[in-house]
Amino acid sequence: MDIKNLIVDLLNTSFNNSFDVEAPDFSTLLTQNDTREKGDFSLPCFSMAKSLHLSPVAIAQKLSENLPASDLVVKAEVLNGYLNIFVNDKTIIKNVLKEFENNGSKMFVGAEGKGKTICIDYSSANLAKYMHIGHLSTTLLGESIARLYDNFGYKTVRMNYVGDYGTPFGKMIAGYKLWGNDEDIKARGVGAIQDLYIEFCKHEDEDGFMDMARETFAKIENKDPETLKIYNWFVDISKNENEKLTSLFGIKFDDWRGENYYSEKMQPVIDELNQKQMLTEGENGSKIVDLGDMGVSVVQKSDGTSLYSTRDLATACDRFNEYNFHKCLYVTDVSQKLHFAQFFEILKRMGKPFAENLEHIYYGRIRLPEGKISSRLGKQALLKDIVDVAYNKALEVIENRNLENKEEIAMKVAIGAVALVPLKIDKLKDTTFDIEASLNFDGETSPYIQYTLARINSIFRKAEQELDITLNDVKNEELALDEALLSIEAFEIIKYLNGFKDLIWLALQKHEPSIITKRVFDICKAFNKFYQGYKVLDGKNSQTLNRLKLLDAIREMLKHAMHLICIPTIEKM
Ligand code: ARG
Repeated sequence: MDIKNLIVDLLNTSFNNSFDVEAPDFSTLLTQNDTREKGDFSLPCFSMAKSLHLSPVAIAQKLSENLPASDLVVKAEVLNGYLNIFVNDKTIIKNVLKEFENNGSKMFVGAEGKGKTICIDYSSANLAKYMHIGHLSTTLLGESIARLYDNFGYKTVRMNYVGDYGTPFGKMIAGYKLWGNDEDIKARGVGAIQDLYIEFCKHEDEDGFMDMARETFAKIENKDPETLKIYNWFVDISKNENEKLTSLFGIKFDDWRGENYYSEKMQPVIDELNQKQMLTEGENGSKIVDLGDMGVSVVQKSDGTSLYSTRDLATACDRFNEYNFHKCLYVTDVSQKLHFAQFFEILKRMGKPFAENLEHIYYGRIRLPEGKISSRLGKQALLKDIVDVAYNKALEVIENRNLENKEEIAMKVAIGAVALVPLKIDKLKDTTFDIEASLNFDGETSPYIQYTLARINSIFRKAEQELDITLNDVKNEELALDEALLSIEAFEIIKYLNGFKDLIWLALQKHEPSIITKRVFDICKAFNKFYQGYKVLDGKNSQTLNRLKLLDAIREMLKHAMHLICIPTIEKM
């Protein structure tokens, strides 16, 4: 059992001996501190004051007096309404390393989400165009958040709600009929399709062009076989391209149904809105829902066609029917805040209980800094070009290293560096993405993280080659604490190990992967401090084996954390 649970047990006993009411949930109240001055754990007593009719200080005092004796707690101090608990280093270290020995990296996962489904709608780019820098955050934040839920046993459904509907498709297919060239499309894929669209837009003010686009789109809706064939061809090319790009980041979507699929499911929602008398007449005969302070949401245009918001209403209902989700999350940029707030509110007013379980997750902007790379990439820098630039830079950086599979490593370095950009800082903050700086091996970068892991791996390789020590030897060695394992440096690592699962839970609740990223840098620094302070490989003996135990635990925690923030691991670099 982990330390926190042991302390929670002690607190429960103390509480039951002190008061006649039911104990609060100490596991949520008790926090683990990063530094030791105010104890290793703190319990704020404020929330209990009201029901117990006592001051927080008096409560803390009582709990401290009645805390059962144990070799875990050395001191419990009352300070400003907090009960600060100091634990015995040795007990903590032994417990944590024992837990790691028994469970390995399973000690970081939980079962809180068992039986609950989380739908997560992210990436969701509009098709027949290249993905660009604007899609980086939705794609990586979405994936990382999905991994946080995976960590707690939720069933996550990764949804790429692609934009495959609307007049733009009428335009590009009309453009294809005018100027299209199959060979070019086969060769250049999305690039060629996007060009047809751009060319068409140049003409759209000319007589007849917009009518042509609308008619062509209507043909898609009416399932005209010839038009549908072209449409499906374009959609497939485009989906394949997006799939190829996102899979470089280790992302695999479960559900690719986009707006087009749901466009056929809208009528029941419109009927229901009608029936509930929520629809009013807007300008030129459009149909709107008046949300008062939240503005007006148009659900049907004057020509009877639907909108993005109408499709989202239908999509949410359909997803609930299909998945009975615990939550449905949508990851998009902040500009869509009103759209989501409005359609969530409409569903609430329609009396859909699941409306409470929809959540919009939004984020700040990523810009490229001024300079050569940016001007070469252009304003809407394409994601594939960004990966390409990062890959070539990474290849340059590792060029002089003695490594076998440089291309593969360079790709992993590039992917990690690109992935970390939206996951490094508080998601609401704007950030600039300096590709060169992000590939630096020093500083708070992805290659630094990858390199730290590779370094730990190399210590284990060396142990095997020079000292004939296998991982099994390390695991089977009886735990013995020497000065290195009892050092402040080691204790920092032990605390990270002990608190890691809670930290992942916090990141999940806040939908904030940067919490994990910050801890990853702490872990790397803590490892480096420990490794500088103590010699690890010093003969095949109990001391070496025990120090390697700690390194093995750091390594597993680091790998686990890297997975959560989508950074590929590299064995050797
Ligand atoms: N395709 C939209 C865009 O590119 C994002 C879709 C987000 N998901 C949703 N269910 N509305 O802006």
